[in-house]
Amino acid sequence: MPDFRYQDGEFYCEAVPLRRIAEAVGTPCYIYSHATVVRQFRSFDSAFNEVPHLVAYAIKANSNLALLRLLANEGAGADIVSGGELYRALQAGIAPQRIVFAGVGKSDDEVRYALRSNILMFNVESSDELRAVDRVAGEMHTKARVALRINPDIDPKTHPYISTGLKKSKFGISAERALDEYKLATTLPHIEIVGVHKHIGSQLTQVSPYVDALKRILNLVEQLAGIGVHLRYLNVGGGLGITYQDETPPQPLDLAQAISPLVKDLKCMLIFEPGRSIVGNAGVLLTRVLYHKANPEKVFVIVDAAMNDLIRPSLYGAYHEIKPVHEVRDKLKRQVLADVVGPVCESGDFLAKDRMMPLVDPGELLAVMSAGAYGFSMASNYNSRPRVAEVLVVGSEFHVIRAREEYADLVRGEMIPAFLK
Ligand code: LLP
Repeated sequence: MPDFRYQDGEFYCEAVPLRRIAEAVGTPCYIYSHATVVRQFRSFDSAFNEVPHLVAYAIKANSNLALLRLLANEGAGADIVSGGELYRALQAGIAPQRIVFAGVGKSDDEVRYALRSNILMFNVESSDELRAVDRVAGEMHTKARVALRINPDIDPKTHPYISTGLKKSKFGISAERALDEYKLATTLPHIEIVGVHKHIGSQLTQVSPYVDALKRILNLVEQLAGIGVHLRYLNVGGGLGITYQDETPPQPLDLAQAISPLVKDLKCMLIFEPGRSIVGNAGVLLTRVLYHKANPEKVFVIVDAAMNDLIRPSLYGAYHEIKPVHEVRDKLKRQVLADVVGPVCESGDFLAKDRMMPLVDPGELLAVMSAGAYGFSMASNYNSRPRVAEVLVVGSEFHVIRAREEYADLVRGEMIPAFLK
């Protein structure tokens, strides 16, 4: 994470010491580097210069409006999975013609909203959904542009919760059924078939599953051409991994070198849906140490951030590096094997388990690294904890891009019915 580094013993994001942000905004808070987001987006986009393509940022990774606007300004499209994400994308100024809508369970209302907004296409995942989109489009006297999401049954070799392209997964249409589903689509009057979609999983650290899945899809594209269905868009999904600890994931250029030769003669526009690789290493979660506690078995470092703020360690056993904001240069500083835990009332509430780390004093700050993707976007109000502030650093300036929630936000929309008054 080159935009986060020590300078004279202090941890900085770009040219701003994190301590300064903690003083101004409080903790916990998410801090994002503008430079990293821009660099990551551009490196993805430029890697595929040789083929017509659209980078549709997967909004679910981090859907803050300011980040979306920044990406819109860079020319990004959006991969959305809900009406709420469509709303965010449009609010941020992402062009509807650059928006693709995935997900196994779109409601009629969501389909209507997307058709009204004239998005580029739906990634449809079942025949029931295909019929529903056809019906809603018919009611609106319009046609829906559609790609079918095909499940290529390839093991992406990642965490089971984020594998999506295996036979037993709920996502997509099985490769064996694909041709029949396309044939069904050709009979539906309000469906315009424009493409094919695949996404096999997230945090991929090898190119080969990507390439294997693509080959299966290309096979299908050829079969479809044989029955007169010519596709205009080939959506290869997202999933490129990042370095959390010691992974060495492929870079966009590696992916481009593997993919471009396979697709360059197709008359299709390629669509990518990267999320994590754009924002994951652009953000940290800043937290303050509250207490230490040692029981006979273990040392606990109790901090003010918790699983409701960053659920990845609890949910996936994910590793996030933790760095003291005040650099520990004293090699003699006591190293301990500790769990870094939050205040939430769950044993599963931890940010790190059995971590060898310097015993940082109460009141000191810690940066939980690689938290830009699936951090804030998966945050909840569990234990009635207000969601934290988000801050964007640009050079030597920083901007609050989401205010810390207040207690009043916690009960907004709740009502005590008259009979209880
Ligand atoms: N396209 C589709 C259809 C997806 O389902 C996803 C992610 C993406 C694109 C973006 O994938 P990415 O480039 O970010 O890997 N919460 C989990 C990750 C869930 C990913 C869900 N789908 C985590 O924290 O690891």
